[in-house]
Amino acid sequence: MNWLVAALAVCVLVPSANSWCYHKPSCNDTTWPTIAAKYCSGTRQSPINIVSASAELNANLTEFTFQNYGDTSILKKILNTGKTVKVSLGSGVSISGGDLSEAYDSLQFHLHWGNGSSIPGSEHTVDGKRYPMELHIVNSKSTFNGNTTLAVKDSTGLAALGFFIEEMSGNETQQPASWNTLTSYLANIRNRGDSVSIAPGISLDDLLVGVDRSQYYRYLGSLTTPNCNEAVVWTVFKDSIKVSKDLVRPGHPERHPAWVLGLINARIPGGQRSLACISSRIATVIQVTLERSKEP
Ligand SMILES: *[C@@H]1O[C@H](CO)[C@@H](O)[C@H](O)[C@H]1NC(C)=O
Ligand SMILES: *[C@@H]1O[C@H](CO)[C@@H](O)[C@H](O)[C@H]1NC(C)=O
Ligand SMILES: *[C@@H]1O[C@H](CO)[C@@H](O)[C@H](O)[C@H]1NC(C)=O
Ligand SMILES: *[C@@H]1O[C@H](CO)[C@@H](O)[C@H](O)[C@H]1NC(C)=O
Ligand SMILES: *[C@@H]1O[C@H](CO)[C@@H](O)[C@H](O)[C@H]1NC(C)=O
Ligand SMILES: [Zn+2]
Repeated sequence: MNWLVAALAVCVLVPSANSWCYHKPSCNDTTWPTIAAKYCSGTRQSPINIVSASAELNANLTEFTFQNYGDTSILKKILNTGKTVKVSLGSGVSISGGDLSEAYDSLQFHLHWGNGSSIPGSEHTVDGKRYPMELHIVNSKSTFNGNTTLAVKDSTGLAALGFFIEEMSGNETQQPASWNTLTSYLANIRNRGDSVSIAPGISLDDLLVGVDRSQYYRYLGSLTTPNCNEAVVWTVFKDSIKVSKDLVRPGHPERHPAWVLGLINARIPGGQRSLACISSRIATVIQVTLERSKEP
């Protein structure tokens, strides 16, 4: 999740919470514990590598109810935050069920990505597999009425839905139409802070096409960016969203967020550290990883 919460109490020798980054040694994730010491070095940190063989069936993990996910005018605005592209949602979108303690309002979604198939950029991995991209829908307990300052103080104040994004196997282009439309906005938000309104026409259901939303992994974790608050009920869906190659490969750059923002915004294997290193680090913080059975 990319979620900037209210600034920390300022300490003269410590960079502010806004100064974190992904790939500069001066502010990359190895420095996050100094930026937000209280949480970023905690024991309930996200993302994790999900070990499917260790996942346990849990009959409490029932189907979700998705309220207004079919509304084609609920995607309001797309913003280049400098760290991700974020789409804000109108009011009245929510999720419930899925063993959540109450309804959670869906506030926004954003993306994490790498750079081409050789540098995939999902944050979660499954059995070590990293997908090209990951979509996060951020939801906040309805009782907090959208006040995320309060939500991050509650150990289950936020509920994040993670969806992997992969390339379609065929030669189709500009598919699905919903993703063609969404990615067409990237050319209009090329600078940090740029935002544009999204015209009615696509819904969340349209973007989540092809995913069986009754099949998911559940664990308790954190925000994946500073301040790394351990306040998130994570749901990671097994199925991926399939998008045509032209929309997810940097070869078609104006449709790829890495081109628009000029950065990769996930913890990825590569130059600096190996996947094995990441996996072993995160494996130690798994609380319990549960997988819902398809059977009742
Ligand atoms: C972060 O920077 C440190 C050097 O300060 C380096 O050792 C590490 O590999 C870097 N990690 C990433 C993910 O870039
Ligand atoms: C299912 O929910 C019940 C009631 O809240 C709880 O006692 C039980 O531990 C839960 N089961 C699992 C596997 O979490
Ligand atoms: C969130 O709640 C806190 C504590 O009640 C309050 O101080 C703050 O102003 C609220 N923020 C917003 C955006 O309403
Ligand atoms: C996809 O494109 C490649 C190269 O252009 C071609 O060789 C292949 O037959 C195409 N596959 C399909 C299913 O159209
Ligand atoms: C992605 O990779 C291409 C070359 O494969 C490189 O030119 C470009 O700078 C990379 N983009 C990012 C954001 O790392
Ligand atoms: Zn995220």
